[in-house]
Amino acid sequence: MEVIKRTAEMQEISLRLKREGRIIGLVPTMGYLHDGHLSLIKKARRENDIVIMSNFVNPLQFGPKEDFATYPRDLDRDNKSAESVGVDYVFAPANEEMYPQGYDTYVEVKGPITEKMCGKSRPGHFKGVTTVVLKLFLITQPDRAYFGQKDAQQAIVIRKMVTDLNVPVKIITCPIVREEDGLALSSRNTYLSSEERLQALALPRALSAGRDMIMKGETDPQKVRLHIKQMLESSPGIRVDYVVVVDGDNLSDLSAIKGKVLLAAAVYVGKTRLIDNIDLEV
Ligand code: PAF
Repeated sequence: MEVIKRTAEMQEISLRLKREGRIIGLVPTMGYLHDGHLSLIKKARRENDIVIMSNFVNPLQFGPKEDFATYPRDLDRDNKSAESVGVDYVFAPANEEMYPQGYDTYVEVKGPITEKMCGKSRPGHFKGVTTVVLKLFLITQPDRAYFGQKDAQQAIVIRKMVTDLNVPVKIITCPIVREEDGLALSSRNTYLSSEERLQALALPRALSAGRDMIMKGETDPQKVRLHIKQMLESSPGIRVDYVVVVDGDNLSDLSAIKGKVLLAAAVYVGKTRLIDNIDLEV
């Protein structure tokens, strides 16, 4: 496994691999790898000749009051984990490599899919994500790129960018990986105290309760949404940011529950903001 820090070098390697006819899979990450990331890498390993993992905590996608400075980082541990699951190249640029002085170009998906949910609570977040992801695509030249379903809205926004800009990369979304007790894996789980870690279980529980209502025949999205919200609001230590029951393909509001449905929520547990979701086909 090679660790590449320079954008020019990474792009040269990727273009050479493409000329040689190799199929490249990219797993974009912000590091501090957990089993969720490793599941993306393992899938990329099975489906491509070359696996590139990017490891870059992207300052553009953090708001001024968010956790960019404290976001957990451990490059050495990440490199060991990446190597153990067969990554060929880790691309780990410094901020100045990605955004040198005078950097001025941004990519933004406009419209409802970036204005609701995390887009509403975190203004500018998705503009930062789409900008860095398109840059990563141009630097690493992937045929396929792998994203986790935990960031369901992110995956939908990236798909939209790829469609709108005719980017020749296949976007692959992989299932959420959970702890045994149901908590979705996230690098931000490390912020939780042991008490908060227990309180955080209210999030997967409330979403599962919403899913159970649908499985039992409930077709009113507002009733399901309200049930999830009330469960969260009555859980100790939880402050609700949002709860939605929306179309699983494009996040639009539903008049009735039918087809692909996404139940998604964001909550604060203490100072830590956690997101989770369940997608289902009715
Ligand atoms: O999902 C993430 O970790 C990040 O948003 C991504 C896609 C690596 C872009 O910085």
